[in-house]
Amino acid sequence: MNRETPSAPGKLWGGRFREPTNVWVERFTASIQYDSRLFREDIRASQTHCRMLARQGILTEEEGRRIAVGLAQVEEEFLQGKMPFRMELEDIHMHVESRLKELIGPVAGKLHTARSRNDQVATDLRLYLRGEVDEWSEGLWQVQQSLVTLAGNHVETILPGFTHLQNAQPVSLAHHLLAYFEMFGRDRERLQGLRPRLNRLPLGAAALAGTPFPIDREWVARELGFDGVCHNSMDAVSDRDFVLELAFIGSVVMNHLSRFSEELILWSSSPFGFCELPDAFCTGSSIMPQKKNPDIPELVRGKSGRVTGHLMSLFMMMKGLPLAYNRDMQEDKEPIFDVVDTVKGSLRLYADLVPGLKFNKEKMFSAAAAGFTTATDLADYLVKKGVPFREAHEITGRIVGICVEGNQTLMTLPLSVMQQVDGRIAEDVKDVLQVDASVNARASQGGTAFTMVRAALERARSELEKRS
Ligand code: ARG
Repeated sequence: MNRETPSAPGKLWGGRFREPTNVWVERFTASIQYDSRLFREDIRASQTHCRMLARQGILTEEEGRRIAVGLAQVEEEFLQGKMPFRMELEDIHMHVESRLKELIGPVAGKLHTARSRNDQVATDLRLYLRGEVDEWSEGLWQVQQSLVTLAGNHVETILPGFTHLQNAQPVSLAHHLLAYFEMFGRDRERLQGLRPRLNRLPLGAAALAGTPFPIDREWVARELGFDGVCHNSMDAVSDRDFVLELAFIGSVVMNHLSRFSEELILWSSSPFGFCELPDAFCTGSSIMPQKKNPDIPELVRGKSGRVTGHLMSLFMMMKGLPLAYNRDMQEDKEPIFDVVDTVKGSLRLYADLVPGLKFNKEKMFSAAAAGFTTATDLADYLVKKGVPFREAHEITGRIVGICVEGNQTLMTLPLSVMQQVDGRIAEDVKDVLQVDASVNARASQGGTAFTMVRAALERARSELEKRS
């Protein structure tokens, strides 16, 4: 082949190559199909880099101005859908630069002074994910808001609290809902904790070792709204711990949503009949006319597995990489983008679904009374009469056994039968065996007594106000 002719035509890196790229290689290595979503960030970071180069005298004012005008036009074309994706241009960075070159000529090549795609992609990704973190926080806040509003209507609605999915003790529905408020609150805290680590500027690390040009990274960081720069150029281009952290937080959010989903699926099933999901969030069956299926909770439960799967694939992708940049890292995008979309979409749906939940108070109440859920109250009653808890537990167990044999409940069992088991049981025992008495007895801090739940609601409301 003639050494004068460029042999990897159209390639911005083609100089040292003597053969055109294999067409399957182009397809295999291209990331434009998914990294085009970094377009805004890529242009924004390039504009800032360009202004910095001009400020520092690395580009002339005129060169800087021409590049800036060109970039604005590339942006415009992209927004109008006029930028075709070309596999041979690999990724978003090459697409922007090559279009810039078509528009303003060889001066476009000066934009890449003192930078590399390695620090460029890390910068774009951090900028992009920073915006998503803020959207997740907003979504979590909205779900919390919906939960608080719903809980406000159900302080005195009682349902069975379960352990092992067996009736355990009656609780306030608001208390149950506010448990999720707490989980999503911690998810928001986790995001706030990640933000300062995420919000650091890699640009200026260049390929891996820094650059001989007199760049001003602090200025670029400030212009792009970063809290500071990544201190080590090799770390800047080679770590993706911020991607892992976000995928982890997303997995926790999805895990919380998934457990809530599971409860809604159970609660809305015919045997439970505790609640009904809003029609707008369900689908029917094409064969069984009576069906109303909880598709959204089911899909959210299913997608939580997918998100956690992405976390695992990101860990596997990163674990053996020597410093600094490796092409493997291009594989971070599809998983993290899917995590971002899935978490955001799930939160949005739940923010709207939760207010539409309708509860069947009577059914929940009778379920709460079934299965000897106030047995602990009987034991606690005996403890208050001076019986050691272990002994009280034993006595109560015997009484429950008698009820089971005689097909009775603690409320229907005659006092005289209880007294045969233990003479310290008196008339006033019936007061503590009522379901609502049981709930209201649990007035310890963080407990389910109505007074405590009302206080928890107040706290929740003021926490939400701090944010808005
Ligand atoms: N598309 C690449 C990625 O996402 C950009 C960086 C490419 N760098 C390189 N040296 N080939 O990771």
